[in-house]
Amino acid sequence: MKIIVIGATGTIGSNIVRKLEEQHEVIRVGSKSGDYQLDLTSPEEIEKMYKSIDNIDAVVSATGSASFKKLEEMTPELNTVAVQSKLLGQINLVLIGQHYLNANGSFTLTTGVMMDDPIVHGSSAAMANAGVASFVKSAAIELKNGIRINSVSPTIVEESLSKYGAFFDGFNPVPVDRVSNAYIKSIAGAQTGQNYTVY
Ligand SMILES: NC(=O)c1ccc[n+]([C@@H]2O[C@H](COP(=O)([O-])OP(=O)(O)OC[C@H]3O[C@@H](n4cnc5c(N)ncnc54)[C@H](OP(=O)(O)O)[C@@H]3O)[C@@H](O)[C@H]2O)c1
Repeated sequence: MKIIVIGATGTIGSNIVRKLEEQHEVIRVGSKSGDYQLDLTSPEEIEKMYKSIDNIDAVVSATGSASFKKLEEMTPELNTVAVQSKLLGQINLVLIGQHYLNANGSFTLTTGVMMDDPIVHGSSAAMANAGVASFVKSAAIELKNGIRINSVSPTIVEESLSKYGAFFDGFNPVPVDRVSNAYIKSIAGAQTGQNYTVY
């Protein structure tokens, strides 16, 4: 398969790429890194990517930003980070990409644990995660040509503890290797409309 991975140099994305490369052709995408650069928040850049890379079988999004702030410090403006990036950026990959993907292809997006298990500072990210998961469930019944769609909801990843561990006291971290297996299952399997929790 020819597979686009957006966020390919990240903690989760790089592990997904390492596994996929054993069997597939992988195009690594980031805003500054990788084989191809795009800003996920730009629908024009997403369309340009699909026009530039042909014969795509699968799209993986292992990216998406959000502002982490206490609710009392969260503002409408700060909230737009998650809306533009994690929510609309990922959804636009599907809305635009559905017209370019090969038949029987797949989309795999990323959500996250705080949509189900709230943390302080996590309301904006939780909003985006839940929006993505609901979109996935609903889009799955309408995508044409055998195209499937799933999302992966990781808990805090062991390899990210130094960056985000302070937000996740009492959570059980999982190795990134377990998280990336859920993306492989989404791409290689037959299920659609799922949000795979890796907790
Ligand atoms: N790590 C965790 O513990 C954890 C747990 C639950 C959920 N998640 C979710 O999983 C996803 C990936 O997390 P991560 O920790 O692996 O991220 P990360 O290590 O920070 O990597 C982010 C990746 O996204 C790319 N990127 C950043 N901004 C972009 C943009 N505007 N357009 C396109 N690409 C962009 C980066 O490449 P460039 O630098 O080239 O832009 C990089 O490859 C996020 O949605 C995160 O919320 C992570």
